[in-house]
Amino acid sequence: MAKQENWIAPSILSADFAQLGTDVKDVIAAGADVVHFDVMDNHYVPNLTIGPLVCESLKNFMVKEGVNAPVDAHLMVKPVSRIIGDFASAGADFITFHPEASEHIDGDLGSIKNAGLKAGLVFNPATSLSYLEHVMDKIDMILIMSVNPGFGGQSFIPQALEKLKAARQLIDASGRDIRLEIDGGVKVENIAEVAAAGCDTFVSGSGIFGKANASDANRYDTVIQQMRDELAKAK
Ligand code: DX5
Ligand code: ZN
Repeated sequence: MAKQENWIAPSILSADFAQLGTDVKDVIAAGADVVHFDVMDNHYVPNLTIGPLVCESLKNFMVKEGVNAPVDAHLMVKPVSRIIGDFASAGADFITFHPEASEHIDGDLGSIKNAGLKAGLVFNPATSLSYLEHVMDKIDMILIMSVNPGFGGQSFIPQALEKLKAARQLIDASGRDIRLEIDGGVKVENIAEVAAAGCDTFVSGSGIFGKANASDANRYDTVIQQMRDELAKAK
């Protein structure tokens, strides 16, 4: 399957949680495509963030305000099984989880698919892509971590580029519509190189929200446009 249209996915981990709805509305209006929603449990990863209640109220706000973008729930939660249904009910469009956080990877992917959502697996820097071998038929998204999960603002681990290339080959060989996403340390400065490695879905937290903290509704336009210009160069 050829590379899909590029999607920019701001990670709301770096948004202002006191005005989350407004930040999401403004960043999508600035041209971003997906809301990347990081869920951390202080167990699988050493940080604690937001859960299904926040997902539901954000989704309700988006519907009310006419903000049209999928919510991509990245679950850094162990065990992951029980919480999948909560995120499906809360309006998530994609659910991805880490294979190390699941006792039954095939079953958890199946629960996401049965709920009518898109499903994906997330690969930490040292985690092998071999987890994909017997479940490719249930995969809609492969997320390659280019940092160790837990915090925004870390530096991009360059070995992720080789992993992206390997994942791109697996996707192409499968002939399926599977998004290839990167997460961690993605900024205007390196997004072209990431795209050239085969990525089509670019999570960026501090690279987008860290650029602007004014309450100007246009504050994200410049950075999103710069990312688009870099992506155009990588074609
Ligand atoms: C890290 C999270 C990321 C994080 C990325 O564990 O999964 O989504 O917010 O932040 P940046 O883009 O700042 O590295
Ligand atoms: Zn994430």
